[in-house]
Amino acid sequence: MAEKILIVDDDLDTLRLVGLMLQRQGYQIVAASNGPQALVLAEREKPHLILLDIMMPEMDGYEVARRIRANPATDTIPIIMFTAKGQVEDKVMGYEAGADDYITKPTQPRELFAKIRAILARTQKAASGPASEVSTPQERGLLIGMVGVKGGVGTTTATFNLGLALHQNSQKEVIVAEYSPGIGTIGVELGYKAADGLDRLLERNEFEITSLEIENHLIQFAAGIRLLLASSKPLARLKTASATHYQQITQFLGGMAKFILLDLGASLSPLFQPIYPKCSVIFLLVEPSLVGLSQFHALREALIHRGVHQSRIHALAYNRVRSDIMLTRSQIQERLGIELFGMVTPAPELAHYALLNNRPMYLLQPESITARQFDEVALKILALA
Ligand SMILES: Nc1ncnc2c1ncn2[C@@H]1O[C@H](COP(=O)(O)OP(=O)(O)OP(=O)(O)O)[C@@H](O)[C@H]1O
Ligand SMILES: [Mg+2]
Repeated sequence: MAEKILIVDDDLDTLRLVGLMLQRQGYQIVAASNGPQALVLAEREKPHLILLDIMMPEMDGYEVARRIRANPATDTIPIIMFTAKGQVEDKVMGYEAGADDYITKPTQPRELFAKIRAILARTQKAASGPASEVSTPQERGLLIGMVGVKGGVGTTTATFNLGLALHQNSQKEVIVAEYSPGIGTIGVELGYKAADGLDRLLERNEFEITSLEIENHLIQFAAGIRLLLASSKPLARLKTASATHYQQITQFLGGMAKFILLDLGASLSPLFQPIYPKCSVIFLLVEPSLVGLSQFHALREALIHRGVHQSRIHALAYNRVRSDIMLTRSQIQERLGIELFGMVTPAPELAHYALLNNRPMYLLQPESITARQFDEVALKILALA
C-alpha cells in the first residue's frame, strides 16, 4: 500500500519535480502551494509524511508546522522541512516548530528518498503499538480495467452495466469511471446536462488532485454507485493531460470503493501505461467479428509486454449481432483459442430502448437475458475478489 506524502511549496516547479520523483518511488502524492491549503490537506488526507517548504508568502513553514502540531488530528504526522541555507538558526527554529528532519534545497534525490524511508519506517514501527490513524492502511478496492479490442465495440456500455451488476450482486460500493475526455457517452446516454468530472480533474495540476477533489467530481447515480464521467465536448480532446494525472486519479479511486471499473477505451493509450499493470483484472472486450477476434491476441500480447500478468487478462465477448447469425460461445472460444470469461448478447432493441429511456440496459430490463449475463460475469469477478 503506497504511503501518502503531502508536499508543500509555493514554487509550482518544485512541487511537480519532487512530486514526480516521489511518485516514481511508489508514493502517493498530495500537494499544496500555500500554508492554509497545507493545513486543510493535512487534516483531510492524513498523509504519512509532510515535506514542508519554509519560505512561503502568507504563512511560512514554521507557522504551518506549529499549527500541524497543535491540531490533535495531525499532531503525529512526521514533517521534513526544506531549507535553502541549512543554517543552524533556521534548523533550530524548525525543530522548535515541530519538524522531525531537514533536507537542503536543491534536493539530492537519494538523500531525500533515504530520509523519507527512514522516517516512515520509524513511524510505522511506533504505530504498530497503540492504534494510530496516521499509518492505518487504506483498504483498496478491486481495479477493473475495460479495454475494447477496437473502437465502438461497446466498451463503455459494458463497463457501466457490469458496474451495476457488481453492485447488485455484492451490495458494495462501485465506481464507474470514463477515462477519455471529450468523448464521454454515459452522461449523454443518461440525459445528464453537465457531466464532465474527468475533464475538470485533468485540467488541474496533477499533484493538486486530491481524494476530496475527486469525490466532488463524482456523480451519485444511485445508492452505492458513483460515476466519474467524461464530457462529450470535442475541444476537451485537444487539451493535454499526462499519464501522471491518470495515475493520481486511479490511486485515489482505488481507495474510494470496493469495485472501480475503468473505461480505458479502445486499444492501448500511452496515458494509461502506468495503469494497466495496476489493474487487478483487465477485460478485453471482443466483438465476434473478423477484425475483433484477430485483434484480441495482439492486444493481449501488448499488455503482457507492458507488464500485465497474463493471468489478469480476460476475454469478454460483447455480441450484439442478430441472433440468427451470431457465433456461439464455443465457436468464439475455438477461434480465440482461449476460454471466454463471459459473454453478453445484448439485443440492439434493448440498447435502443435503454437510450430512449435514459436508463442502462441492466436496470431497464432486470429480467432480461442480458442482465443475467452481466450477473454471471459479476459473480465470477466476486469469486476472484
Ligand atoms: N447491444 C447493442 N446494440 C446496439 N447498439 C449498441 C449496443 N450496445 C451499445 N450500443 C450502442 O453502440 C454505440 C457504441 O457503444 P459504446 O459507446 O458502448 O462503445 P465503445 O466501445 O465504448 O465506443 P468508443 O470506442 O467510441 O468508446 C453506442 O451508441 C451504444 O449506445
Ligand atoms: Mg466508449
